Formats: sequence, structure tokens, C-alpha cells
Amino acid sequence: MKDLLRTEHLSRSDVDLILDTGAEFAQNPFRSTDALANQTVAIYMTKASTRTRLASETAVAHLGGTPIFLRGDDLQIGRGETIADTAKIISGFASALIVRTFAQSDVDELGAHAQIPVLNGLTDSDHPTQLLADWLTIREVFGSDISGRKFTYIGDGNNMAHAWLTMGAIMGAHVVVATPPGKWAPDDSAIKVAKKIAEKSGAKIEVLTDPEVAAKSASVLYTDVWMSMGDPESLRVEKLKALAPYAITSELMSLTEPDSIFMHCLPAHRGEEVSAEVIDGPKSLIWREAFHRRTTIQAILYHLVRGEIQGSK
Ligand code: CP
Ligand code: NVA
Repeated sequence: MKDLLRTEHLSRSDVDLILDTGAEFAQNPFRSTDALANQTVAIYMTKASTRTRLASETAVAHLGGTPIFLRGDDLQIGRGETIADTAKIISGFASALIVRTFAQSDVDELGAHAQIPVLNGLTDSDHPTQLLADWLTIREVFGSDISGRKFTYIGDGNNMAHAWLTMGAIMGAHVVVATPPGKWAPDDSAIKVAKKIAEKSGAKIEVLTDPEVAAKSASVLYTDVWMSMGDPESLRVEKLKALAPYAITSELMSLTEPDSIFMHCLPAHRGEEVSAEVIDGPKSLIWREAFHRRTTIQAILYHLVRGEIQGSK
């Protein structure tokens, strides 16, 4: 597989390989300082980013390469140059492209026309590199035997909810997503993708609307912001009202397993999707999770440029 365009494109053995290498880069960030020697990696973002940008730039630097950061307006794409032409030009200068934007179809198109690996650094519908960091964190806490454990996401049915379902399916996990019904439920297409993968992996996929049922006996409670980048401000009041019962509070955490953890991809809004008591409390793994953004992006870059990712098909 040339690119990492969608979470669903990863096989279980790809994920295991990336997590193993990510764990090595956590131990020794400078294990492979010549992997990208004399090479550049373009990072193109039309949305804001703290972690993904920092993780990507440091990952490239630790592999001996030079990152080139391009903000949305920097490229001629905003003035009508085609995605295909842009992909060809970037391929002439860089060894890989990490892209964060709105439409998944734009990332797919970049991948189709670029001769270099293209990595999805978040779209409106997916966030594959985040899930790699999440699952390395989960593996560090619970080990590789996750049988009998329940991995629950509660909140908006957004890109993170989709990626949570898909990666959980790949990992053969019991994954649960609880969102308000209707407008803020996960996309049917994302649920379908996860269920199809689950048929082979043995994963159990549950899409619910009751946060307490979802939290009961869970090993992980995960949440994300309620207003994502690109969400219309005109819907804020209605959306926050619908999501209010889905806030992660100490009461909700008390329904989980004694050894449970709290996770959040960040940025967080304390007092909105999660209480300060939970996110800053002893069960919260948010800093380790954020740390692994670099280790896992370093690992995926390392293996993609070497042609070592097989893909799910
Ligand atoms: N979790 C995450 O993707 O963070 P940024 O938006 O800061 O990159
Ligand atoms: N759902 C959020 C994730 C941020 C990392 C967003 O898309 O803004």
C-alpha cells in the first residue's frame, strides 16, 4: 500500500507493525535518523492543528528528513490549480505528503495522483494517525489480550467516532459508540465499513444512544470535542443541547471497570464534553496519548516510505 488515506485500509498486521515500531520510537526517538536523510516531507493543512503538526514535523526531523509546512492558502490549489497537478508537483519535491483538510475525497484524489505516500492527517470523516496513537496507548495499559474488554466512545458521531469504530473492528475489539440519535449519529457508511471488517476480525460493534449503557463495564471511555473544525456555528446551540447528556463526568466514569482509563484526542473543552475532574484526574491518559502522536507518525512514515505496509486488501 502506497498511502494511508483511510483507517479501513490498514490490516491488523499493519497496525501491529506500526505499533511495535512506534513503541521502539518511544524508547529511542533517534533509532533511525537516516531513514529520511536528504529527503523532505510536505505537510499541507487547511485546518488548524497543534498535535498533528508538531508530531509530524518532529517525526520527520527524528527520521533525518526536513519537513515543509504548507498552510491552506499557501498553495495555488486555492486559486484553481487542480488537486492532480498539485499532487504531481509535490511528488517532484517531497518523499511523502501529510495532509489535513475537509473532504475525504480530496485526500483520496491526492493519493491517486501523487507518486509519493500520502497520509491522512484528519478529514471530516476520518483520523487514522490519531487511532494509531490511541491503540499504542491502549496496548501499553492493557497489553495485547483485550478479550472481555469494552472500548467505548461517547459524544459526537464525527470523524473520531468513525475512526474509533473502524480501528476497533480491525483490532477485533468490542467497540461501542454512543451518540445522540439522528443528525449527530455516526454515518451509516462508517458503521457499515466497521461491521464488514468485524465479520472477519471477530470484533463486536455496538452503536448506541444511551451513554450509561455504553459506559457500563467499559475499559476505556473516549470522547472528542462537540464542535469539530468545519462544523457550522449556526448549529452550535442545538448541537450542544443534544450532546449535553453525553458529557463524560465522574458519575459516568464510576460505571466503568475499576482499571478503566479516560482518553481524548484533544483539543478538549473542560466543562463541555468532559469534566475537569475526569480529564485532569488519575484515570486520564491524555498526555501519553498525545505523546504517541509523534511515535506512531514516525513509525507509519518509516514503514510507508520503505513500502512495508501491506494494506487490508
Ligand atoms: N488530536 C489532534 O489531531 O490534534 P490537533 O488537531 O491539534 O492536530
Ligand atoms: N473532531 C475533531 C477532531 C480534532 C482532532 C475535529 O475534526 O475538529
